[in-house]
Amino acid sequence: MRYAIEGGTVVTPDFILQETAVVVDTETKKIVHMGKDMPRVDMVLSLEKTDILFPGLINAHDHLLGTYYPRVGKGPYLNWYPWDNDLKSHPLYEERSRLSNQDLYWLGAYKNLISGVVVVSDHMPHAVNEPLIHGLPIFVLSEYTLEHECSSYDLRWGRGITLEHREAQERNIPFITHLEEGFDEEATMGVDILMEMGALDEYTVLIHGISLSEKDIEILAKQKANLVWCPSSNYYMFQTTAPIKHLLEAGVNVALGTDSPMSGGLHLLDEMQFASSLYEKLYQERLDPAVLVRMVTVNAARALRLFDQGRITENARAHFTVIRGGNSHNPYETLVRADLADVRLVIRDGVPLYGSSHFLPFFSRFSHHYQQVLIAGEERIVIGKPIHFYREICKKLGFAKQLPFFPIILPEGMAVCP
Ligand SMILES: [Fe+2]
Repeated sequence: MRYAIEGGTVVTPDFILQETAVVVDTETKKIVHMGKDMPRVDMVLSLEKTDILFPGLINAHDHLLGTYYPRVGKGPYLNWYPWDNDLKSHPLYEERSRLSNQDLYWLGAYKNLISGVVVVSDHMPHAVNEPLIHGLPIFVLSEYTLEHECSSYDLRWGRGITLEHREAQERNIPFITHLEEGFDEEATMGVDILMEMGALDEYTVLIHGISLSEKDIEILAKQKANLVWCPSSNYYMFQTTAPIKHLLEAGVNVALGTDSPMSGGLHLLDEMQFASSLYEKLYQERLDPAVLVRMVTVNAARALRLFDQGRITENARAHFTVIRGGNSHNPYETLVRADLADVRLVIRDGVPLYGSSHFLPFFSRFSHHYQQVLIAGEERIVIGKPIHFYREICKKLGFAKQLPFFPIILPEGMAVCP
C-alpha cells in the first residue's frame, strides 16, 4: 500500500517544508516521494494545519531493564559505581524485580513510544537483551558492540575494548561505551585509554563524558567520535554534566539520551526540556532548539550508524513523530517544549504505533492489534495490549503503581489490579 501524509509542517530536520506531501510505501517501509505534487496513492493521511511532522525520534541511550520509578540514590557521587551499589541495595530494586525482564522491556518500549520515540539504543549486553527486543513495537538497536565502561571497575559487558571496537569497524556498526562518568583518576583517563588502544574513531559512541578535558574534546573532534549527552542523569548523580557548549563548538557529533528513569529523564521529551533549561542555567544563554532537535534525529542516527534514519527524505525509513503545534512559530522550539499531551502520532516503518483517536480511520487500515485508552488527558490508540499489560504488572507488584512515563488511565469501572 502507498499512502501520502499531507497537511501540517514537515521538519526534515535540515529544512522546514510547507505544503509538502510525503509518500510512504508500506512494502518497502520507505519514503518513496516528497513534493508539492501528490502522486496516485491508496490513501491520504491528512494532518491538521498546526501539526508538525518530524523524523521518528531516536533515544540514543537508555537501559530498558531499568524502566522503573522513581529515581534512586543520594549524590553527588565520585563515579557511577557507588550509585550502582545504592540502586542494588534499595527496596525499590526488589520491588522492580517482581517484574520479569520482558515486562521491563515492554514498559521501556511503551515509555519511549508515548514520548514519540521510534528507535532506542538499549545499553545492555546482547545476551541479556537479544531475546527480549524483537517483539517490541519500537525499534531497539541490535547491531552494536559494547563495553560497559573502560575502567578496572567496569561491569565487563564486552570481550575487551580492542576486540569489540575492531568488530564494530569490520561490520560498520557502532562501538558503544559509557565513558568518563565520574571524577576519580581512572574515570578522567577514559579518552586516553581509548586512544592508546586505537578505539576512538567515528564508530565510537561515548556515553556521558562529564569529566572530559579541553584536550579530550579536541581529540574527540579530530577522531570524529560521537558523544551521547544525558543531562538529567548526570545532574541527578553528579550535579554537573558534560562540557556541552565546548563539545558543540568543537564540532563533536552529539546525540541525546535519557539513561534509565532510575537516574535519568522520565522520557525523551522530558530530557529535551531539561537539556534546554540546564544549558541556559550553565551558560546564561539559550541552546538553539534546532541543535537539540538534531540531537534526537540526524546526530543520533549518525552516531548509531542508522544512515537511512533520522531524516525525512526520499529513500529514508518511514519513521515519523507528529507533534501538536504550539504557540511558537519555530517548529524546533515546539518539539523542545512538547510534553506527552503533544504527541499526536508515531509511525514506524510506515505502520502507526500510537496516536490520537482522531486518526482512527488511518489506524483501521492496518491489521495490527490496538487498544484505545486515556493517556495524557486524551483518548489514544496504542499498539499491543497496554490495558492488559498495565493490569498484569500491577498484579505482579501487588498494588497500583503510578508510572509518570506511562500515565495510562483504565476504562471506567475497570479495576487496576485484576
Ligand atoms: Fe547508562
